[in-house]
This record gives sequence, structure tokens and C-alpha cells, in this order.
Amino acid sequence: MALPQSMTAIEITAIGGPEVLVPVTRAVPVPGPGEVLIKVAAAGLNRADVLQRTGLYPMPPNAPTDIPGLEASGVVVALGAGASRFAVGDAVCALLIGGGYAEFVAVPEPQCMAIPPGVTLVEAGGIPETYCTVWTNVFDRGRLAVGEVFLAQGGSSGIGITAIQLAKAHGARVLATAGSDVKCAACVASGADRAINYNAEDFVAATLEFTGGRGVDLILDMVAGSYIARQITAMARNGRLVLVGLMGGASAEVDFATVVARGLYLTGSSLRSRSIAEKGEICRTLEARIWPLFASRQTWPVVHQVFPLREAAAAHRLMESSAHIGKILLVP
Ligand SMILES: NC(=O)c1ccc[n+]([C@@H]2O[C@H](COP(=O)([O-])OP(=O)(O)OC[C@H]3O[C@@H](n4cnc5c(N)ncnc54)[C@H](OP(=O)(O)O)[C@@H]3O)[C@@H](O)[C@H]2O)c1
Repeated sequence: MALPQSMTAIEITAIGGPEVLVPVTRAVPVPGPGEVLIKVAAAGLNRADVLQRTGLYPMPPNAPTDIPGLEASGVVVALGAGASRFAVGDAVCALLIGGGYAEFVAVPEPQCMAIPPGVTLVEAGGIPETYCTVWTNVFDRGRLAVGEVFLAQGGSSGIGITAIQLAKAHGARVLATAGSDVKCAACVASGADRAINYNAEDFVAATLEFTGGRGVDLILDMVAGSYIARQITAMARNGRLVLVGLMGGASAEVDFATVVARGLYLTGSSLRSRSIAEKGEICRTLEARIWPLFASRQTWPVVHQVFPLREAAAAHRLMESSAHIGKILLVP
């Protein structure tokens, strides 16, 4: 297949509001050694893209700063030297370090995955970042065990919906928080045993009530700030708190007496800054352990809205409004 020389991509032309996302013409990337070139079918939006656009994201040194986009799906159209796991014509989805808001993207082959069973090519564009993040933080780092009580903060977010589904499929009892009754209903539809509208009730009281005063075993948190102290009071003995976001602020006052008394674990992690080998290992684990859950419909994509690539600014406005439930996608 003859490839075009140029493509449309979305560039962050300055630090600022959604209007700084501008369609530009760029050369189609050439896949380097060990990379594949993907003709993008869909690119997923992530909250990190908004932070990057506003200058608030600590970019890894090797990440492209101009074209955002941490995940995409599409068809392999060229192979770099040594790439052999996939062939030209294969449909894949991929975890990216950036560059997904474009018609073509080059990506290290280990970060490519087969499309999960029963998922459309477009839906798959919103899967890699959320599933890799949830796997590594809830199951690897957070060690969620069968029968434990799990709390997903931000339950209606792209990350939250996936966390609810996978924790439920794993045999956990699942709690989730969200900012409205509509979002809470979406959390329950995704498998939450109890959703807490944090604008109407106190999530600590609701959590302690649900667990008969025992507290939760694992919390996946993206708020931090003032939530930290409250979450510590809601945790069971040997409970784990895993931070993936800091939307409520990076600083907190912590009662370490409770941490010591209950033997709590406070941790967190970032996916984007990890090595290609580490990302590849997570991708192989997803294909082996999580993709079968798509076949049995224990997990499924939740897409809120699909925008044309050129309307990336409108897509960012929607994400910043927090009105969405699940994923927002861009389609070239
Ligand atoms: N560490 C990692 O490797 C990693 C990887 C991917 C994502 N993340 C993080 O995970 C979080 C979720 O990402 P996402 O792409 O799934 O985001 P998203 O879909 O935009 O969802 C974020 C949700 O968080 C809730 N929220 C709670 N407090 C908020 C606040 N102070 N400001 C704005 N929203 C708030 C909102 O729902 P309500 O209306 O219910 O409040 C919002 O819908 C982000 O913090 C992101 O940076 C981390």
C-alpha cells in the first residue's frame, strides 16, 4: 500500500485553553527499528492530555511535546527493522508516549496489542491507557484479592469505569464515588455494588457503613489533596491506597498514627514514564489475562462521545466539563 507523505495531526501550539489545539499538516512518521506504523482509526482522550495542554504535566524527556495522544487503535501499515510480532494489515491498539492525535503514529511494537474480542476498531482506541493503568495499579501494585472491598474514586471516569468492571470480574466487592446520580447509575451499571454521590453524602461514612465499620482494603484514587486524610480513616487493616492522579492537589496532611496502627500502604505510579520493556510486559499481561474478559462480557468499552480529529478542541472542552462518562474518542 502506497503511504501518503503528509498527514493531519493536532498540535498543541501554545500552553492554554482548548483553542490551542490546532489541526496541522505533518510528514507521516517513518517507523524506526522495532517500531510499527499505525494508520489511526481512533485515538483516546485522557485527562493527562488536558494537563499537558495546560502546562501542568511533568513530561518524560523522550515524549513528544507538540502532538498529544497516549493511546490509539488502527491498522499496521509499515514495519520498522526488526518488528515481527505484527504484520502489515493487522488491526491493533497501542499504548503511546504521545502523538496519537494524528492520522498515523509510529509506536514501539511491544506497546501494540491485538484488538480485544468483540470490540470494534474505533472502541479499541480508548482501551490501552485505561486498562494498562488499572491493571498495574489495582492488581499489580494494589494486589486486589478475591473477596476484598475495593473503592474506585472518580468511578465514572475512563479509569474509574474500567477499574469497577475489572475489580468486579476479579471477585471483589466494589464501591465507587461520582459527582452526580446519573454518574452513580453508570458506576452501578458497570458493576459497582454501591455508588456514592459525593455531593450528596460523605464517602467515608458510606464506606464504613457498607463494610460494617471495617473499612476498605484497596482504594484507587485520582483526587489526592484533602481526600488523603479522609481515605485513611476509611481503610481497613493492611489497606492500600494507590494514587494515579492528583486532581485535588499534590499536598496533604496525613495522620501517620493511623497509618502505623492499621499497617496501611500509601503508594502510586505513573505509566507514561515507564520503559518500553515495562510497558510491553503490561501489554502482554493484558492480552493474556484481561482480553478473555471481553469475550465473556465481564468488561466492555464505555464510549461517551466520538469527535472528528479536527474537533479535538471541542473534545477537550467536554473532558474539562467532566460531563462525560467513560471515554471520549477522536476519529481521523
Ligand atoms: N498514573 C497514571 O499512570 C495514570 C494514567 C492514566 C490516568 N491517570 C489519571 O487518572 C485520572 C482519571 O483519568 P481519566 O482520563 O480517566 O479522566 P476523566 O475521564 O477525565 O475523569 C476524571 C473524573 O474525575 C472526577 N473528578 C474528581 N475530582 C475532580 C477534580 N478536582 N477535577 C476534575 N475532575 C474531578 C470527575 O468526575 P466527577 O464529576 O464524578 O467528579 C471526572 O469526570 C486522572 O487524574 C489522570 O491523570 C493516571
